[in-house]
Amino acid sequence: MTTTTGVAAVTGAVGSAHTRVEGRDKVTGAARFSGEVPFAELTHGWLVLSTVARGRIRSVEDGPVLAMPGVLTVLHHENAPRVDIDYMGMLGRPNPVLGIFQHDRVPFAGWPVALVVAETSEQAREAAEALVVRYDEEPHDVAFRAGRPDAYTPEDSPLVEAETEKGDLEAQLAASAVVLEAEYTTPEEHHNPMEPHAATARWEGGRLDVIDSNQGSTWVAGELAQLFSLDPASVRVRSEHVGGAFGSKGLSPHQVAAVMATTVLQRPVRVVLTRRQMFSLIGYRSPTAQRIRLGADADGRLRALDHQAQSLTSTVYEFVESSAVLGRVLYDADAHHTLHRLVRLDVPTPTWMRAPGEAPGSFALESALDELAEKCGMDPIALRVRNEPGTAPVSGLPFSSRNVLACYEEGARRFGWAGRDPRPGLRREGRWLLGTGMAAATYPSGVGPSTAAVTADPDGTFTVRINAADVGTGARTAMTLVAADALEVAADRVRVRIGDSDLGPAMIAGGSMGTRSWAWAVTIAANELRELLALGDGIPPEGITARSNTAEAIGALSQQERHSFGAQFAEVAVDEDTGEVRVRRLLGVFAAGTIVNPLTARSQLVGGMTWGLSMALHEEAVRDQASGGHVGADLAGYHYAAHADVPVIEADWVDDPVPGDPVGIKGIGEIGIVGVAAAIANAVWHATGVRHRNLPIRPDRVL
Ligand code: MOS
Repeated sequence: MTTTTGVAAVTGAVGSAHTRVEGRDKVTGAARFSGEVPFAELTHGWLVLSTVARGRIRSVEDGPVLAMPGVLTVLHHENAPRVDIDYMGMLGRPNPVLGIFQHDRVPFAGWPVALVVAETSEQAREAAEALVVRYDEEPHDVAFRAGRPDAYTPEDSPLVEAETEKGDLEAQLAASAVVLEAEYTTPEEHHNPMEPHAATARWEGGRLDVIDSNQGSTWVAGELAQLFSLDPASVRVRSEHVGGAFGSKGLSPHQVAAVMATTVLQRPVRVVLTRRQMFSLIGYRSPTAQRIRLGADADGRLRALDHQAQSLTSTVYEFVESSAVLGRVLYDADAHHTLHRLVRLDVPTPTWMRAPGEAPGSFALESALDELAEKCGMDPIALRVRNEPGTAPVSGLPFSSRNVLACYEEGARRFGWAGRDPRPGLRREGRWLLGTGMAAATYPSGVGPSTAAVTADPDGTFTVRINAADVGTGARTAMTLVAADALEVAADRVRVRIGDSDLGPAMIAGGSMGTRSWAWAVTIAANELRELLALGDGIPPEGITARSNTAEAIGALSQQERHSFGAQFAEVAVDEDTGEVRVRRLLGVFAAGTIVNPLTARSQLVGGMTWGLSMALHEEAVRDQASGGHVGADLAGYHYAAHADVPVIEADWVDDPVPGDPVGIKGIGEIGIVGVAAAIANAVWHATGVRHRNLPIRPDRVL
């Protein structure tokens, strides 16, 4: 039986601030991260990455290294266990980078060519650094630039529709009184969580047991089973605490390397990535070159919206940074065209990085809206309100709920937008030029099938089991609150177990879908448990357990556009002598359905907004054309916002009920970053009168 009663605030746990249930463990060090879990007989693997950007491995001279102290084995393409990478995984085909040590080809600088395993981490590192690998090098191409002639339109994937068209774009542009055409670029950016990627693998009682740091142990266990042709029931992946992920913690070569090595050595093997290795092994955000054309009537009504975005991928795997998708839902126009184009280069494959698509896409589109407002002589909010759609502009689907107007209104009120003089370059405070800007934000609210179990224990407490991942977001705490409300008990009577593939399949912490997906499964299981308890048969020693599986209910969801929305506001000061941009204030107001835990939700939104500031002003990974690798691949060389760069950031939300939705949660993982870079760029224009269409807005570009 399936009940889909909503996460109503019965006990009021959902919607009230709650500190993290594992907070004390984290600040006392009792919480162990994956690289810290002790094992008897533990060995340490160190990856060796290619130093050339394209070519073939001629030889791996492992002889001298095998004689070094503590070295147990060196795995490479001539001796490593074989894996199968021809399968369909939970999120599509696997990235061929998971097929490490299977052949001699090198498709980018930083491709894994060997794993050195030793008794200690230091011995493994020393040997790895001493290992001589010879290559037959081939010419490489890592130059991303707008309008490359080899750019192509990718096939549609279930995750990204490459191109959409509605109406006659050129005719509407020709009929427009005001036309804006502009090109925007964003650089390669990296998500390097504080906790590096780490996996420990061992064979235990005939099962493969992996201690990992990931966004979904169901996902990682499933892929490892397929890669190594194992019965899925014989693979267990645990990921209890995760020190940040942001899209980077799925499958990477280190997990595969650890499993290969433990299979060869029959001892536990730990592989931890270095910060530098993370720059080539865990994915990143592709640079983008985006072209926008907007056509409007003199009163700002949009006739045409064209957004074309070029990004890059590797030669081995296709990943599309879906930057052009926002306009499909944000603004009405008589004609729409959105298109993604890709170029294949000799670089690592990019991946999802916080608000994949929308983060760089919103910089272009929301900057362009600001430029159009200027051309029309309109307030930027008024322009957006004028083009507010009733139903989704391209798909025609109804919105599950859409409260972006309330975000504009509440944001404008709190920010003090009313009475803003739109003319640029007029306000100053000493040598600082002052300006304000805003942008809209949106991100899809998806959901994935999950299973959950809720047990009533004889002592009057409850245990929730769901293979959620708490990547630092407070997922464990959120599920505690959701379960408490569904069970109608106080939150301190609920304990939640997560991060273990043995708990049963569940959605990943990704795409802003985790909380919504898990809450649904937990609520159904809790409701069923209450029905079992209502029978009044007493609770046996093993407890009474109810289980749920949301696959069917999710399959039956009506066709709607489900999105979170928001409005971002920024105030900046620009030093007219040095070009330094200081962000003085950021305010984000969001409409994102039910907010489960205001404390951790606010923290997550502020985190996203901080990242948006960093994206606007600082972040830029520089690829060296000669070597094909990075310049400054560490957290000193990759410049990002530090505390002193970050002003008071306010994040808040408006009521956003979602009628007919079984959980009412929309997700807030990504939307915090969306629109921030545009709001800041628009504020810099307002301060200086100069448009910045290329990120980051470095001092040397400002003046
Ligand atoms: Mo998010 S970039 O889908 O982890």
